[in-house]
Amino acid sequence: MDSVLILDFGAQYSRLIARRVREQNVYCEVLPHSASAETIRKKAPIGVILSGGPNSVYAEGAPLVDPALFTLGIPVLGICYGCQLIAHTLGGKVEPDGGAREYGKAETTFDRADRLFSKLPETSITWMSHGDYISKLPEGFKPAATTAVCPTAAIACEEKRFYGVQFHPEVRHTQYGRELIRAFLFDICGAKGDWTVGDIRTEAIRKIREQVGDGTALLALSGGVDSSVAAALMAEAIGDRLTCVFIDHGLMRKNEGDEVEQAFKPWPIRFVRVDAEQRFLSRLAGVTEPEQKRKIIGAEFIRAFEEEARRIGGADYLVQGTIYPDVIESGLGSSAVIKSHHNVGGLPDDIGFKGIVEPLRMLFKDEVRALGRDLGLPDAFVERQPFPGPGLAIRVIGEITREKLDTLREADAIFREELALSGVSKELSQYFAVLTSMRSVGVMGDGRTYDYTLALRAVKTDDFMTADWARIPYDVLDRVSSRIVNEVKGVNRIVYDITSKPPATIEWE
Ligand code: XMP
Repeated sequence: MDSVLILDFGAQYSRLIARRVREQNVYCEVLPHSASAETIRKKAPIGVILSGGPNSVYAEGAPLVDPALFTLGIPVLGICYGCQLIAHTLGGKVEPDGGAREYGKAETTFDRADRLFSKLPETSITWMSHGDYISKLPEGFKPAATTAVCPTAAIACEEKRFYGVQFHPEVRHTQYGRELIRAFLFDICGAKGDWTVGDIRTEAIRKIREQVGDGTALLALSGGVDSSVAAALMAEAIGDRLTCVFIDHGLMRKNEGDEVEQAFKPWPIRFVRVDAEQRFLSRLAGVTEPEQKRKIIGAEFIRAFEEEARRIGGADYLVQGTIYPDVIESGLGSSAVIKSHHNVGGLPDDIGFKGIVEPLRMLFKDEVRALGRDLGLPDAFVERQPFPGPGLAIRVIGEITREKLDTLREADAIFREELALSGVSKELSQYFAVLTSMRSVGVMGDGRTYDYTLALRAVKTDDFMTADWARIPYDVLDRVSSRIVNEVKGVNRIVYDITSKPPATIEWE
């Protein structure tokens, strides 16, 4: 199997590079920059990519690359810091600023005589983010692209197949970034592009078996895509030595608990569904403050899971559905707490497990979905929109009661059904109903009603960090509205949320 190695020099974008390589069906791994040339040689990659990074190559303690990398005969592509590092390591010179610093979009002119750029237009927009620039090229190199201020926006040594680009081809703002990465992989490294989801599956199973041996494992199944795919993969790898504990907190959507159970029936695993509705609802009784709700649910979840784990006699390993973006996010310093997120990632580590298994740690969400499909999880299951760990508790505004939850479940099911029937749901990232705590006067038949207002929320987003409210056709909203007020008791008014994130968040609490 062809593989490409990415050496990480601390870039914000190094995971994105991995994403872009894998998009081309070429396997890649990210290694720390300290990986020795010998380690790299043993892995026999068809190419090496040096990522960007926040440092200056000439600064004291700056992360360097093992110079012997350049004697292995393997093509190298350096991106931003990686590009400067190639120059620095091979005898060129990198200097601060010099008027050549650039942040943002830059019109860039390429020398199309170079194989890396031969399929690109002569001029296009690239995304720059650098303070230093290469003031002297190493021997054998020539400048391969320029911008108005930077004479070395790309460098190339065709003979040795070493290339550096000062800009970021992995970022969408670079117009032909994808083509450039393709050219490096296919034209320079000779990749075949035949890495498939089947390969991900085989490799993941091999690694799980290697780690777990003949031990047992325990997995907290939430019904979300990540923990479900992790469960399916573990089931395939270790069969009935896997126990999945599904804590049904009674805050799921309509029929969801049963659907989770159904989806896991075909596997020869131990599946435990814990009916914890009473315990969660009684702990939440009278609580109205969103953060308090979230904290109670998070803590109660851990307690319920621990009890269950003890009851079934524990296990050697704890399985978590951590995916690549989670890994990246937890690596990014501290930012303000907007909401304390709860998901199965925050599980106890003090039940005495030998270790943690994270079979999806290297995968992006769409790879996880493809893997789930390959493993035989139903499509509807794998394509689920994200659902927050605290479930409907944060979609019933104010105090939570069983009755309100049921009202919300019915209304939410109608909204989802109509969006699916109209085909609109395919274009949405997330959509759901929220039961507000506000009541208003209405008229039904000949009588007065005094019932709850229900809000509908639908957003489009790539990353869930920002989101735009979705322009759902009025006739679809109209159908949803009249169905809900007619079919769901306790609701007499429907509103549609037309706020983007920011300033609002996607969930209401
Ligand atoms: P917000 O409301 O912060 O939501 O704009 C962003 C995304 O995160 C989901 N979300 C959660 N997911 N545990 C989760 O696993 C949580 O506690 C949680 N809270 C919000 C939300 O549904 C949206 O997709």
